[in-house]
Amino acid sequence: NQSRVGALFDLYAGVTRSFHYLLKETGTGKKALDYLYARGFSDDIIDTFQLGYAPQDPNWLYDFLKKKGYSSDFLAESGLFSRNDSRYPLFRNRLIIPIASTQGRVIAFGGRLLEGEGPKYLNSPETPIFRKSRTLFGLDKAVKAVRSSGRFFLCEGYMDVMALYQAGIPESLAPLGTSFTQDQANLLKRYADRGILLFDNDDAGQAAAAKSIVLCAKSGIETSIAAVAGGKDPADILEKEGGQALQKLLQYTINSLDYLVEKAMARFSAGTPEGKHRILSDLAPFIEAQDSAVKRDGYLGRLSDMLEVNVTALTADLSQKTTPSR
Ligand code: UTP
Ligand code: MN
Ligand code: MN
Ligand code: MN
Ligand code: MN
Repeated sequence: NQSRVGALFDLYAGVTRSFHYLLKETGTGKKALDYLYARGFSDDIIDTFQLGYAPQDPNWLYDFLKKKGYSSDFLAESGLFSRNDSRYPLFRNRLIIPIASTQGRVIAFGGRLLEGEGPKYLNSPETPIFRKSRTLFGLDKAVKAVRSSGRFFLCEGYMDVMALYQAGIPESLAPLGTSFTQDQANLLKRYADRGILLFDNDDAGQAAAAKSIVLCAKSGIETSIAAVAGGKDPADILEKEGGQALQKLLQYTINSLDYLVEKAMARFSAGTPEGKHRILSDLAPFIEAQDSAVKRDGYLGRLSDMLEVNVTALTADLSQKTTPSR
């Protein structure tokens, strides 16, 4: 099994090189390369992230790897081919985004649709070298800067991480086609105790941000929120306004308590007892996730001011764990 793991690392490293070559040096990859340029990405980023192109030809990958001496059985279990047809590659005519382990070894791919029908992104299945919930896109490149600054930037997508990196913010990470997990938060806590969240400026993004705030709090990570204004997500802002606009965005963050209260107040009326109760229920998971009584107390004090409810009543309701809005 040890040797199978080693062989998988070698396989993914080799395929990454080949996809990258196809993107940069061949006519087949040209439209994918132009796509990246059109989105504002530089050659530097394309090389740093070893972006690639998986060709349309369904025979190419299998033939190429067979010639290199890989067995059919090994390839069938590699995560590179379809479950139903073990010679049929998962990624065809897609932009390839290599996903690396914290140590920087490629362990999976994300593949973005360039044209035609199909899901916008495909992601490699889990293999002996790839555990989704324990991997964060960008962490290998971010880890040094995250360690030294004690903070990370969490966004939603591959393109967002690369956009932030290009804008001079290397501490940028994203989950992998699934929502952010407790395992990922715990992993990050090893390197930093502050996080800035830059989720998409839409309902799904804002809902994901609220969940991530609580997961971070449970891991002992304090978060603040950057409003992604003037675009849908960080990659959008890079494309439309450039890297400096992205940096500017990060100067205006709000703390997570204020963010959650603001969101809850937009949904429920802070002018009625029922509304106040719902707002408190909305905030309860965040307050209960705090590892510190001092912080809980401070947050309840601020909530008390904002809702005009005394702290004793807030505390009594919290200890009843009444959550009518969920
Ligand atoms: P988004 O829909 O916000 O995509 O999904 P994006 O990152 O902005 O993509 P671009 O800018 O259009 O290229 C956020 C993340 O969710 C996952 C991907 O990891 C994506 O980066 N996702 C999204 C999938 O895995 N599959 C999908 O079909 C869509
Ligand atoms: Mn290169
Ligand atoms: Mn989105
Ligand atoms: Mn997005
Ligand atoms: Mn996007």
